[in-house]
Order: sequence, then structure tokens, then C-alpha cells
Amino acid sequence: MVGAYDNSPCYNAGMPSELVFLKLGGSLITDKARARTQRTEAIQRLAEEIAKARRDAPGLQLLLGHGSGSFGHMEAEKFGTAGGVKTAEDWIGFAAVWGAADALNRLMMDALAAAGVPAVRVAPSSNTILDNGQVAEISGEPVRRALNSGLVPVVYGDAVFDRTRGGGIASTEMIFSALAPVLHPDRILLAGIEPGVFSDYPVRAALLPRIRAAEGKIPHSVLEGSEHTDVTGGMLSKVMTMLALIRREEGLEALVFSGAVAGNVYRALLGEELAGTRLEK
Ligand code: IPE
Repeated sequence: MVGAYDNSPCYNAGMPSELVFLKLGGSLITDKARARTQRTEAIQRLAEEIAKARRDAPGLQLLLGHGSGSFGHMEAEKFGTAGGVKTAEDWIGFAAVWGAADALNRLMMDALAAAGVPAVRVAPSSNTILDNGQVAEISGEPVRRALNSGLVPVVYGDAVFDRTRGGGIASTEMIFSALAPVLHPDRILLAGIEPGVFSDYPVRAALLPRIRAAEGKIPHSVLEGSEHTDVTGGMLSKVMTMLALIRREEGLEALVFSGAVAGNVYRALLGEELAGTRLEK
């Protein structure tokens, strides 16, 4: 499924290193209620927290992912892109989703560069193929080479070609899941606007401290998808995708936590214990 790559020498060879996949959720970096509305201050702060974490933990290797929030989701909803792409109008929609996802990524890349993070984008639209809505092929080599060169590769939710449906949408979690078996991350961090996963969303009174992959089912009736337009299924489908990965990958855990609290992303990257929802085997 994933192209082979050689193991070229590591930039920080000899230093104890840890590979972390960090997602900045679309709700954290955009206002999901308003089309194409980025949260500029949050984006800058998060970029600075990432820069500081890299300075304070030189062994940290980071694959950064970010959601599409009110950029890609609204275009994808308008054109029904997640259900497949067939007609000429559907393809115009596919390009519109691509453009919206790209526009938000540009803002993220600029903020990372301004904060001094040597980040390079690895666009899923160019390195991933879906089949029936699932990742069929992804090239891990650009990500691995970027990591080995001391860079921060950046992936994001994107419009992606699909062998049977023409086109579709890949969420950041789908990209993380496809890359994990070749890159073997030590930890996955999912930073959103919420402090974790609630069992009574949108009431938000009962935060789940952990969800065990082995327990199989999560309560669909109480774990709502999303309050806003979300073509990739909201929190429910993101958690399901991560639990399926955790079941397959030995020793892998994920933490869903709030990136809206200043300092949390920095602390999480440094491996501090944070409040949130742990997704474990
Ligand atoms: C969604 O990606 C991609 C598009 C709609 C183009 P994600 O599922 O990773 O994004 P968020 O976190 O829900 O915004």
C-alpha cells in the first residue's frame, strides 16, 4: 500500500528521538460556524508553541496535521464531494474543496515559517489515492525524508482522487492512520477546541477520561458527530478511525485534548500528563 523508501541518515542521529503525530483540529484553527474564517491568533500561538517545543526537545520528530474547518468542509458539503465526484459540476466542486483546503494550509505554513519552524507541506491530494472512500495508496517517503532532514512535514484534510468514486475527502485522521504503519509514531496528539471526548455532547458535562479500543463499541447514541458542517463525520468518526489504528499498532496511544488552552500543545509535545481523553488499547 505504501511505497518503499530507503532509510537515509537521520538529521539528529545519536539523539534519543520520539516521533509524534500532532493534529490541530479544524475547530481549533477556524470558526466552523462561519465560512472561510480562520482563528489567526490561535494559529500564530500554536505555531509558536510548536517552535518552542522543538527548541526545548531537540529529539522531537513531528508530523503535523491540520483539519480543514470552515474552509474545506463547507465547500465539500455544498458539492457533496465526500459522496463521490462524477459530473463536471462535481469536479468543479472537487477543485473548490482543494482550493479551500489549500488556502487554510497556506495560512498554517506561513504561521509556522514566521515562528521559525522549518515546515514543508505534503499535500494528500498529491500523494494519496482513495478507493471507495478508504486510503488505497499513500507515499510515506516525502514525510520520512522530511523528518530525517530535521524538517516538520505538514499534512491536512484534503480533496483526494478515488479509484471507484472519482474523488472524495481524506481527513487528517485517515492520513495519520495510513502513515502510522510505515512511520511508527510513538504518540498521536489530537488537539481540538474541546477538552476531550464527551459522552453527552453537546451538553458537555461528562468528559470521558479514556476510551479503550479493545472494548469495541463506543456509544453512538451519546457520542455526537459535530455541531457544525463536518463531511468527515465529526468527533465520532475521528475517534473510530483512531481506535481502529490503536487496535492494529502495538503500543500506540492517542490523546484528545484542548489546544485552545495556551501552553497545552507545548506541554503535550514535551510529554507532560495533560487532562483529556486517552485512546488506548
Ligand atoms: C477535512 O479534514 C477535509 C476537508 C473537508 C477538505 P479533517 O476531518 O481532518 O478536518 P477537521 O478537523 O474536521 O476540520
